Amino acid sequence: MMKCVALILLVPAVLSFEYPFLIQKFFKHKVSASTIERTDAAPEIPVAPRIAVIGAGAGGSSAAFWISKARSRFGLNVEIDVYDRSDYIGGRSTTVYPYENVSLPEIELGASIFVKANKNMWRASDEFNLTRRDFQDGGSEMGLWDGEKVVFTFEGGFWGTAKVLWRYGFTSPKRTQDIVDAMIKKFVGLYSKEAPKWDDVAHLSSMYGWTELTSSSTMEYLLHQGVSRRYISELVEGATRVNYGQNAGYIHALEGLCSLAATGASGIKGGNFQVFEQFLERSNASVHLNTTVDSILPKANSKLWTVATGQGAQDYTAVILAAPFYSTGITVPHAISDQIPAQPYVHLHVTLLTTTSEYPNPTYFAMSSSAKPARTMLTTYEGVRKGGKEPEFNSLSYLGLARPGEWTVKIFSKERISDKWLRNVFNGKVGWVFRKEWDAYPKLPPTTTFPPVKLDQGFYYVNSFEPFISTMETETISSRNVVDLLLNDEFNSGICGPRISDSDSKDNNTTSEATKDEDDYVYGWDC
Ligand SMILES: *[C@@H]1O[C@H](CO)[C@@H](O)[C@H](O)[C@H]1NC(C)=O
Ligand SMILES: *[C@@H]1O[C@H](CO)[C@@H](O)[C@H](O)[C@H]1NC(C)=O
Ligand SMILES: *[C@@H]1O[C@H](CO)[C@@H](O)[C@H](O)[C@H]1NC(C)=O
Ligand SMILES: *[C@@H]1O[C@H](CO)[C@@H](O)[C@H](O)[C@H]1NC(C)=O
Ligand SMILES: *[C@@H]1O[C@H](CO)[C@@H](O)[C@H](O)[C@H]1NC(C)=O
Ligand SMILES: *[C@@H]1O[C@H](CO)[C@@H](O)[C@H](O)[C@H]1NC(C)=O
Repeated sequence: MMKCVALILLVPAVLSFEYPFLIQKFFKHKVSASTIERTDAAPEIPVAPRIAVIGAGAGGSSAAFWISKARSRFGLNVEIDVYDRSDYIGGRSTTVYPYENVSLPEIELGASIFVKANKNMWRASDEFNLTRRDFQDGGSEMGLWDGEKVVFTFEGGFWGTAKVLWRYGFTSPKRTQDIVDAMIKKFVGLYSKEAPKWDDVAHLSSMYGWTELTSSSTMEYLLHQGVSRRYISELVEGATRVNYGQNAGYIHALEGLCSLAATGASGIKGGNFQVFEQFLERSNASVHLNTTVDSILPKANSKLWTVATGQGAQDYTAVILAAPFYSTGITVPHAISDQIPAQPYVHLHVTLLTTTSEYPNPTYFAMSSSAKPARTMLTTYEGVRKGGKEPEFNSLSYLGLARPGEWTVKIFSKERISDKWLRNVFNGKVGWVFRKEWDAYPKLPPTTTFPPVKLDQGFYYVNSFEPFISTMETETISSRNVVDLLLNDEFNSGICGPRISDSDSKDNNTTSEATKDEDDYVYGWDC
């Protein structure tokens, strides 16, 4: 896909949206103790304060890690319990092996890629000695399928190649690229020394000047920026459909731009979940897998929260919920659940398979029988908008060789892909097949409101960030923010120290030298 220049990380001079760490006064959702009946008459202080983290995916595992950073930096004395109903660490980041044979290269079933601008994932893979591998996405040919015909094939990215320029002109690809680059430049401000803290994602969005992005569809926004309808409904939509299963006219523009930034992509050899395993390993948390949390309720006559599971109940000073609330089925007080807006998810069918067919069947793609269709096929909804047939999948990609002469393929679709369909599309040469359905990512229509970050005193919600941007990385950013809030509220501290930033002098003239030095700085790791 596109080569994102911004990934080289020229941290822009004025990213420092100063946000004094006196967070209380910024609360939009005033959550006082009175929202929930309890008295503070008989405070019970547990021997060492305990924090519960619900969810062992990117958000929960990193939350435990951030807390442990405070523990190792200045001796914060807390115990951490992490719960997950699954029997593995990683949440929506997990792998499977072709033929269940662990000697063959694993395939990411869920979250697959991160980019260099994703500084937490990048840094974690460096520090944890995990091997990154590039997703070769510049070299191979890509096609764009509209359900009836391959409308375009290209190689070497979304921008700058003669073929792309010939079809779409110069302005649209260039302008889109510039908009994505500008977004990434701002995004990396989230790792600067002056990284903002937020109790309301809408506030962060407006500080970053992203309200227009989240309140417009990708189509509306880019049209308004002078990008051609054709470019948006073809290449941009190909990206939003493969990354989030949503069309350009539906998904908000911030997430749409993130889909386009999914370039220069990397993954961890052996599986991205290893980063999350390491987060937990290093946090020294007690990890309770295969443990469904039934309820999180305030403990009478205390400030504590009681977390109940099938195995019993435990009281906590604070709780971090790092799973999509409505998919957990956890009982919480109405005063809390009423604040969390319903969040539909895209129900995605993932079909993994191996095939000895070097190319998909050209006949399926309405090509001559001697043609070689692209082995990465993105899709556009434009055919449907013009009254045509809907593509039967969102994307179809040859990932690489499972073993000599046999390729692994990943297909995303809205409906189940039948065996008969697979036989047809892969010329009768299908080996292993694996199907998985899951609520892969949130539906992301334009919005200006987001779930509360702080649900109540001592109760925080990492996935409040997901309707804004939904990626592994942004879960680690949201958890960092949540842990900073929690440490500030409960321990008068923060990941980087007792007071993080109360400077109200806006350094609006950072020199380029200073900027360069800060390239490697990652807030939360380097303090
Ligand atoms: C697993 O794959 C390896 C490498 O191709 C092969 O040598 C081995 O026989 C396979 N194991 C099984 C149980 O099929
Ligand atoms: C990192 O991995 C390499 C190769 O597996 C190993 O030689 C090296 O000792 C590891 N370093 C650390 C710090 O674990
Ligand atoms: C890790 O946890 C164990 C028991 O849970 C405890 O004995 C040990 O001191 C902890 N280590 C650190 C570095 O906190
Ligand atoms: C998970 O829990 C269920 C029911 O309690 C049990 O049957 C199953 O064996 C457990 N799985 C693992 C991997 O612990
Ligand atoms: C930004 O720079 C201008 C010019 O030096 C200065 O007047 C202004 O106070 C600065 N802004 C802030 C917030 O410090
Ligand atoms: C910003 O810094 C540059 C170089 O140090 C200086 O020339 C310029 O006048 C400064 N601008 C402001 C607004 O302070």
